[in-house]
Amino acid sequence: MSNSEIEKAAQALLVGNLVAFPTETVYGLGADATNALAVAKIYKAKGRPQDHPVIVHVSNLNVFQEWVVDIPGYCKKLAQDFWPGPMTVVLKRSSLAADFITGGQETVGVRIPGNETALNILRRFEEMGGKGVAAPSANRFGKVSPTTAQAVLDELEDFLDKEDLVVDGGDCEVGLESTIIDCTGDVPRILRYGAITPSMIYESTNLQPLETESSIRVSGSLKSHYAPNVELVLNQQTRSGDGLIALEEVATPDGVIRVAAPASTVEFGQQLYAALRKADQLSIRRLVAITPDGDELSLAIADRLTRASNSSK
Ligand code: TXA
Ligand code: MG
Repeated sequence: MSNSEIEKAAQALLVGNLVAFPTETVYGLGADATNALAVAKIYKAKGRPQDHPVIVHVSNLNVFQEWVVDIPGYCKKLAQDFWPGPMTVVLKRSSLAADFITGGQETVGVRIPGNETALNILRRFEEMGGKGVAAPSANRFGKVSPTTAQAVLDELEDFLDKEDLVVDGGDCEVGLESTIIDCTGDVPRILRYGAITPSMIYESTNLQPLETESSIRVSGSLKSHYAPNVELVLNQQTRSGDGLIALEEVATPDGVIRVAAPASTVEFGQQLYAALRKADQLSIRRLVAITPDGDELSLAIADRLTRASNSSK
C-alpha cells in the first residue's frame, strides 16, 4: 500500500467519508468514530438496525485507553498478549464513545487490528487528530462478511457514495471475525468465538473464560447471520448437484461441486466466506458443509456455519 493511498484513506475518514479497509479478520467498513453523521452512513450502507453497536479500531494502547474506563488487570494482559490481533474487548465506555457507537449501551467494543494496511491508515488518521475508526464488517446486514476487496465491492458498491473508498489489501489472513471478549466482569466472557480461543485466553490470564451469551446485543450472535443466498445444510449426505465445503480429507462424491477443500482449520477459516460467496455465484442449489472439530478454531467455524445455515431457506 503506497503512502499516498494511506494518506487518501485517512483524509477521507477525517472529512466524514466511508473507507472500507482490510483487517486480518475480515474487511471493515470504516468511519470516524467521533462523527455521528459519518457513522450514520455506515448504518445506511449496511442496512443495519440503529441500535447495534459498532467496534472502534485504534492503532495503539494509548488511544485505546481514551475510549474506555475501568480496565481490569486481565484485560491489560489480553491486550498485551493478543494485540495487534483478532480480538475485540468490551469495556465500560468513556465519554468519547457516544450512543451512536455503543447503541446506547454503557459499554464499547475496541480493537487494534493486526494488519499493516489497517494500522497504517489508523496511525495516519490519529496523527491528523482522529481518535478511532468505527468499523463493522463491510457486508450488507446479516450477509456474509467480505474477505477480499472484490467481495466488498460485490456487497456494497451500490450503497457507497463516490467519495467513499475501498482499499484493496488482498485476502484476509484469518477470514473469521475477531473474538469478542466482555471484560466488564471479574472474569473474561466470550461473546463471539474467533481465532483467539478459550484456552489462549486462559493461558494469558489464568482465568477460565465464561462462554455463555450475555445480555449485551451482538448482531454476530443473532441466531441467523452470515447468510449466503444458497440453501446451506450442515453435516448431511450430499446429493448429486450439491456444493460441498469440508476439510480436504473428506472426499468429493461424484456429481458434487467442491467449493472448498481446506487442509486445516486455519485454512477452513480463511476460505469459508469466499466459499459461501462462490456457491452463490455458481448458483448452486444446496450447499453441504461438514463442520470440522477437534480444535478450538473449529468452535468459531462451527458457530458461523450454524448461524449461516439458520438463515438459509
Ligand atoms: O473482526 C472484526 O471484529 C470485524 C473487523 C472489521 O474488525 N468487525 C466486525 O464488526 O465483525 P461487526 O459490527 O460486523 O461485528 C461486531 C460485533 C457486533 O455483533 C456488535 O454487536 C458487537 O460486535 N459489539 C460491538 N460493540 C459491542 C458492545 N459494546 N457490546 C457488545 N457487543 C458489541
Ligand atoms: Mg458483521
